[in-house]
Amino acid sequence: MTFDAAENAVSFFLPESSEVVANKDHVSSPTAIAAWVSSALRIELVSVLILGIETSCDETAASVVRNGREILSSVIASQIDLHKPFGGVVPELASREHLEKIEPIVLETLRQAGISYGEIDAIAVTQGPGLVGSLLVGVCFAKALAFGLDIPLIGVNHIEGHVFSVIFDNPQIEYPALALIVSGGHTNLFFVPEPGQYKVVSRTRDDAAGEAFDKVAKMLGLEYPGGPAIEKVAHEGDPTKVKFTRPKISDGRPDFSFSGLKTAVAKYMRENNIQPVSHGEQPGKEITDLAASFQASVVDSLTGMLKKQAAELSARTLIVAGGVASNNALRNAARTVGAQVGVPVYFPSAHLSTDNAAMIAAAGYFHLNRGESSKLDMTADVSMRLQNLDNRDAELRRRKVRYRL
Ligand code: KG4
Ligand code: ZN
Repeated sequence: MTFDAAENAVSFFLPESSEVVANKDHVSSPTAIAAWVSSALRIELVSVLILGIETSCDETAASVVRNGREILSSVIASQIDLHKPFGGVVPELASREHLEKIEPIVLETLRQAGISYGEIDAIAVTQGPGLVGSLLVGVCFAKALAFGLDIPLIGVNHIEGHVFSVIFDNPQIEYPALALIVSGGHTNLFFVPEPGQYKVVSRTRDDAAGEAFDKVAKMLGLEYPGGPAIEKVAHEGDPTKVKFTRPKISDGRPDFSFSGLKTAVAKYMRENNIQPVSHGEQPGKEITDLAASFQASVVDSLTGMLKKQAAELSARTLIVAGGVASNNALRNAARTVGAQVGVPVYFPSAHLSTDNAAMIAAAGYFHLNRGESSKLDMTADVSMRLQNLDNRDAELRRRKVRYRL
């Protein structure tokens, strides 16, 4: 290991003689540098505590994670009751609530972890995608804290956070992996040839799967959020009762589409004179059957694509994460796909399926170990993208390097 004062950089010569350089602009604390070295050498030299902060939508969450894998605390303040009367998230209310909650939630997570502000080594915060007002609360709080404590700040992509949510309760991921991330705002299937590299192989053309659950639940008169409400009602219903056709994408791309299904549910209700459930009423057979059939159709679309791509891309691990991954029908169908193609399927534990800050801390640790962190002029990015492989592909092609994919 050498330190070059003129270059303001530390160089490490690894056993394979591959040189890695941590520029001090990127890795600023000695602990973070040590963490990075220990990760490069695949040994744990130090204990790195990362405070994760997540405020991208309607959960104010904070968590302390040691060495990217051990959750010391994870506190989530859900705003479901606040938004329930409106049948969906009201952005203005969400950001005001985040403002109220952010400091108490961070203090509570530190208390539960048994540490003080001074013991945090770095802060990872959701930078995007999400609602701008909500994101800004977390980002501004994290920046102020990182500046005050003089520790690294890592802006994390929320979707990458969901990918990292599976590392806590599962064996080591083998690559290449295929990650199906299904939430209220996103439905993407990523090819992950190695950690930190993402290529979108399937995406939704219209609604996200979670959004379809929420909208159909509203049509059926079920409460917000729609996913858990539909799953509960679908339990009593017959998933084969209504046959919905799987959408065909005209240009042949392996994409998802859920808005046609939503329209088909509305049409079926109209044609069969099915009334939405009134508040407090028990759903009748026609509603439970419709909910079960809708759920089966979404699950069939998602897992059909998962199976096709897993076989085509020779994935060695399947990851299913994001809020919709809480759904047991989806979990069971994904497990069947795993068994059919002969690879393990990893899900986050229930607590980590919906939005949380432990997954953000885990993703932050990964980036910190690679010498990546954010400058203090970083800001919220509402449409932040995760795909980074196509760019690298193009760069490799320019350099005439044959990529081993
Ligand atoms: O990941 P998440 O907590 O927030 C976003 O990043 O969007 O996902 C929330 C979405 C909502 O649309 C919700 O209805 C859906 O996940 N969801 C479910 C279930 N639990 C949550 N969808 C289907 N079945 C569930 N059990
Ligand atoms: Zn999410």
